[in-house]
Amino acid sequence: MPTLKNRVAIVTGAGQGIGRSIALRLSKDGATVVVTDITGKENETLNEIRNLGGQGMALRLDVTDSKMAEDVAKKVYDTYGHIDVLVNNAGIYPFKPFLEMTFDDWYKVINVNLNGTFNVTKAVVPYMVRQKYGRIVNISSIAGNVMGFTGLTHYSASKAGIVGFTRALALELARYGITVNAIAPGAVKTPGAMQPGSEEQTKMLIQIIPVGRLAEPEDIASVVTFLVSDEASYITGALIIVDGGWTIT
Ligand SMILES: NC(=O)c1ccc[n+]([C@@H]2O[C@H](COP(=O)([O-])OP(=O)(O)OC[C@H]3O[C@@H](n4cnc5c(N)ncnc54)[C@H](O)[C@@H]3O)[C@@H](O)[C@H]2O)c1
Repeated sequence: MPTLKNRVAIVTGAGQGIGRSIALRLSKDGATVVVTDITGKENETLNEIRNLGGQGMALRLDVTDSKMAEDVAKKVYDTYGHIDVLVNNAGIYPFKPFLEMTFDDWYKVINVNLNGTFNVTKAVVPYMVRQKYGRIVNISSIAGNVMGFTGLTHYSASKAGIVGFTRALALELARYGITVNAIAPGAVKTPGAMQPGSEEQTKMLIQIIPVGRLAEPEDIASVVTFLVSDEASYITGALIIVDGGWTIT
């Protein structure tokens, strides 16, 4: 039997990249998947899910909009009667040296990555508490948690914030049967990360990363599907590093 049969999952930023792969994997493992994003590509991911025999819905959700997050959570609960899984994946990583960084640059990244994680979690958790079951996975990063990266002070702060949030929330929600975990990917081949001009850096990374390749988005999705399965019911407040050994070198 598929491990996530009868589970309803919401994935943010699921129009492309890691979020898309997570949505497809959760669907493959039997979940009904609510694919959300701000670009319209959420519909493309849902079409892929349906073409593979899965089910779900596509909804526009800007994670910086707390009202929109509440509306999405209500719609999902009213439609399916439960919300079992939330994957807070939406994130941005615009490189900017600190000396050139404006207040707007800073607030935008904190708003999407950290406040966005709060907004959607805040909207979904009351339903999980009511049903005394839930699985939350927050996509953090090795940036800010294990390594520093130039040009990413705002991003690193947001991703370290997500880990602090994950640990504290795990403590508060354990009594309701809800686990809260975070994943710290290393370098993942996604449309966002693979911008023109990044080929040289990719070659350099492949030399450094012990497993000898960048991560595929599916490498992150397989950890998410484990964390939200019953096999991982004793794991909460954890940060799982998925970086091909990069940060142990
Ligand atoms: N790619 C990597 O190497 C890497 C490494 C570590 C962590 N991560 C994290 O993984 C997550 C996904 O990254 P990716 O590489 O797949 O990025 P990506 O840019 O390819 O995709 C990100 C998705 O998030 C969506 N998004 C952006 N702002 C949003 C908002 N306000 N509301 C809702 N959705 C929004 C985008 O539309 C896009 O579809 C991010 O949180 C990122 O920080 C990525």
